[in-house]
Amino acid sequence: MTHPLFARFQNLNKKGRAPEKNFTAGWQSPSNIALVKYWGKKDGQLPLNPSLSMTLKNAVTQTRVHASTDQEITGLISVNGDQHHAFLLKMQQFLKLLAIEIPYLANLSLRAETSNSFPHSTGIASSASGMSAFALCLLDIACRMLHEEIPYSEWQPMVSCASRLGSGSACRSVYGGYAMWGKSELITGSSDDFAVPANEYVHPDMMSLRDAILIVSTKPKKVPSSQGHQSMNVHPYLTGRIAQANQNLADVLHALALDDFDQLAAVAENEALSLHSLLMSASPGTILIQPGTLEIIHQVREARKKGLPLLFTLDAGANVHILYSAVSAKEVEEFIHDILSPFCEEGRVIYDECGPGPVQISENQKKSAE
Ligand code: PMV
Repeated sequence: MTHPLFARFQNLNKKGRAPEKNFTAGWQSPSNIALVKYWGKKDGQLPLNPSLSMTLKNAVTQTRVHASTDQEITGLISVNGDQHHAFLLKMQQFLKLLAIEIPYLANLSLRAETSNSFPHSTGIASSASGMSAFALCLLDIACRMLHEEIPYSEWQPMVSCASRLGSGSACRSVYGGYAMWGKSELITGSSDDFAVPANEYVHPDMMSLRDAILIVSTKPKKVPSSQGHQSMNVHPYLTGRIAQANQNLADVLHALALDDFDQLAAVAENEALSLHSLLMSASPGTILIQPGTLEIIHQVREARKKGLPLLFTLDAGANVHILYSAVSAKEVEEFIHDILSPFCEEGRVIYDECGPGPVQISENQKKSAE
């Protein structure tokens, strides 16, 4: 059944309503770091628990999609001119799912050009930025074919809902600042289908949080996140995890609202360690953290005890995100450089911060995420 957010596209016939035969849409979309982690999903890429993330500024994917309406071969033909590109299959699968909601997309012949701002082989997951950038382009094209101006308040949940079909965490990247995904009575209008902005619950000082990404390992993950999500369906700690995530969401919201860094540190670190505990205690268990990850965690906790305001969080990998406020940036970055970066591959650290969300990069119709 079609989601009501996509109802307007049902009447688009094969040719679309716009007179043009060729379109190009271009969007830049950021990655995000979850403070409360999405881990485990139900059918339809719906989350087992609510999650909350901070959108990044510098770690972005830029994607341009060229669409033709009059070609014999339809579907996504190539990525960066390559018909065997590593992302092609995932993007084609996503397109297929989105075409169930917007059948018109199946008539198009598409070519994508995409690049990430973060260096190759840093171990930084690109699915949130990559899938949201692709979703933005596809919906941009569908809207232009419809020849209808869509209010921004409808555009964002629609793009978020579409991005979710590509990668769960991608649905949160559609918003600048903080975003929350998954039904929770704590956030008005929250839904399992799409993310919603959470900035109205956040203290202004938390809007300038910094994130230094410590590259402990650039090796590809041993287990794709889809497999990790799947392991939750039969996980012995499933019920406890759902209760924990809901409580942690309440505590993170409290910390963000009151600018309480210590509480934020307690909850965000609990989430990171819980994610990896769930990975390790699944069957089969997976260990993604490396000795360097643990060294950094110990150093961060020691330094915080001595008064340095920083916290760590982890994705499903060995790299460590260090969060700290803009006012403590100088002293924390010195500590990262002197004490933490020796645990990183070639001392690599990528500095990022809370960012404004996606921006359009094509020349036509300007929609930016404000
Ligand atoms: O969006 P996926 O399927 O790659 O899952 C991401 C899961 C985590 O990054 C571990 C947590 C999160 O909420 O982003």
